[in-house]
Amino acid sequence: MSKKFYITTPIYYVNARPHIGHAYTTIACDTIARRHRMLGDDTWFLTGTDEHGQKIERAAQAAGKTPQQFADEVSNAFRTSWDRLGLSYDDFIRTTSDRHKLGVQALWRKIRDNGYIYKGTYTGQYCVFDELYVDVVGPGAPCPDCGRPTETVHEENYYFKLSAFQDKLIQLYTDQPDFIRPETRRNEVLSFVRSGLRDLSISRSTFSWGIPVPDDPQHVTYVWLDALANYITALGFGSNDTSKFDKYWPADVHMIGKEIVRFHCVYWPAFLMAAGLPLPKGITAHGWLLFEENKMSKSRGNIVRAETIVDVLGIDALRYFLLREIVFGQDGSFSFDALVQRYNADLANGLGNLASRTLTMITRYFKAEVPYPSQTARTAADAVVADAAKSAIAEYGSLFDQYQFSRALETAWGLVAAVDKYIVENEPWSLGERQDEESRQRLATVLYTSAEALRVVTALAHPVMPDATAKIWGQLGLGDIKKFDLSQLQWGQLHLGTKLGEVQAVFPRADKSAIERMQKMEEQSGGTGAPPVQPSEAQPVAAAKPAAAISEGKISIDDFAKVELRVAQVKTAERVKGADKLLRLEVDLGTEVRQLVAGIAEAYAPESLIGRKVVIVANLLPRKLRGLESNGMIVAASPEGGKPVLAGFLEDVPVGTRLK
Ligand code: ME8
Ligand code: MG
Repeated sequence: MSKKFYITTPIYYVNARPHIGHAYTTIACDTIARRHRMLGDDTWFLTGTDEHGQKIERAAQAAGKTPQQFADEVSNAFRTSWDRLGLSYDDFIRTTSDRHKLGVQALWRKIRDNGYIYKGTYTGQYCVFDELYVDVVGPGAPCPDCGRPTETVHEENYYFKLSAFQDKLIQLYTDQPDFIRPETRRNEVLSFVRSGLRDLSISRSTFSWGIPVPDDPQHVTYVWLDALANYITALGFGSNDTSKFDKYWPADVHMIGKEIVRFHCVYWPAFLMAAGLPLPKGITAHGWLLFEENKMSKSRGNIVRAETIVDVLGIDALRYFLLREIVFGQDGSFSFDALVQRYNADLANGLGNLASRTLTMITRYFKAEVPYPSQTARTAADAVVADAAKSAIAEYGSLFDQYQFSRALETAWGLVAAVDKYIVENEPWSLGERQDEESRQRLATVLYTSAEALRVVTALAHPVMPDATAKIWGQLGLGDIKKFDLSQLQWGQLHLGTKLGEVQAVFPRADKSAIERMQKMEEQSGGTGAPPVQPSEAQPVAAAKPAAAISEGKISIDDFAKVELRVAQVKTAERVKGADKLLRLEVDLGTEVRQLVAGIAEAYAPESLIGRKVVIVANLLPRKLRGLESNGMIVAASPEGGKPVLAGFLEDVPVGTRLK
């Protein structure tokens, strides 16, 4: 039975150009959308760009452009990239479009008219990077999420009565345990909401790059309210034509990365409840694609654009790798080595080899027409393959629908392995050399069974690898795979006499030079404006490690070894003008003296620190605090609500000693 299915990606900020992190979410959604279309569902797949807010305004300034010019360029880059990758989005929403602005204002009015917006004065800290008000005190205090210094904001704002929704949200998560997936994220959200919700400031008046608040254009809408609304404005909410909204809303799934769970699982349902609108059916958060710590070191392959992989191995290789290698929901590493290894093992030697040898033998021995399995020439081995295919069909679907892509693919490739073994054991090439009728019938059965298994894997894998599977389908003589109704897939549907298409290799083997070419392409793109990947996404995890080995929250000893902790001695210490919390320190590392800026002024008088031995993180990228460069970080215990306490030693330790 056909039903509607509406799926969304986050809309991506236009402060950075697309990389495979963004492609990851979009590819996952594309795959899900394709499967639903293949099952006959009336599917709508939305993506787009998030273009307002202070972060974008500043990025534009830094690039010497107007925010609109800047947003146009980067939004285009996203769209062009998704088109290059052949992603099948049905709509691309931009938050600077008129349809979106109207929709946001309509949403604001609804929430306001229902009594959930009031005016108040806000004083507090704002993290521009996360576009988030944070619970820290004092100028420059680091953001608890990303560690960057926050800015003090004092302004008259509109507030959203988020506090009124605490119980309703808890009720929602309880009534619909699947509302937030996976479970770990649900638990985090639940404890966040249980700990109490404060009203949320939803307007800003200190800058203008945003959507004016209805009836008070001095204010612009808070960028997250603006952004989240995209999921309904793209369907025509607030416009004259709400036919799409009526048809597709509520969304079946909002797919997001784990760092934006709170916005989607707390704020968004609360906004919708306040507006009296239906809630999405579910939100699924995946983990991060990890690159090496040193984002700008392209030679290490730590910034990767999808285009590079597509040029060398094809889009299907990237799609398959991302969905097969990474356990969806958990973090996983990307590396060219792992990509090529996976490609060769599962695609070139796996599906590709199965297709080419099966089809080549049918061409050679049966004039390119699918032979029929003889009733008399059947063996138990044929039934093993048929059973593997039947269980693959059953299991693949249910794993896929739980977004367990890697397990689903593992199941389908279990069938590939079963057929490979079957072919090796039944030696169709030897049967083909014999002329007797019995051998001929056995050959027909073996090749029919192999071709039918190939057809099943190809149909199942189509949403994941649309290009290669369309080719194999054509080579099987089955025409346009897009017309195939996946809900009808069963063992034994390949017809006798089906005329094969021209047989061509779909996954040529890749060698070392493929890796070198991809690395080179990334290096070359490096000088020409490829963006730094956002440090919050730049977790220092070794890139070459198999993704599955990284379990959530745990790091390996190698990961820890990347953090260079050393003993240093404080030489000078002084307060930083205008920053109550900060001290400027010079510390001796044995080999050099470094300047650090540390948020410990409330706990330690500068003079009390002179001569003291401390522990510092010696290999942090430098950053600027209050205009001063800080070259490292001092290690301290930071009790909740209390003052920091510096780490130290009971015994005397020489300056420069490494902690490990
Ligand atoms: O957060 N690994 O936009 P954004 C996995 N505009 N996924 C990644 C990734 C990585 N390394 N890097 C990016 C925003 N992503 C807001 C969203 S929605 C109403 C507003 C993906 O440009 C992942 O889906 O920072 C993540 O959540 C999203 O890009 C963040 O994109
Ligand atoms: Mg981000």
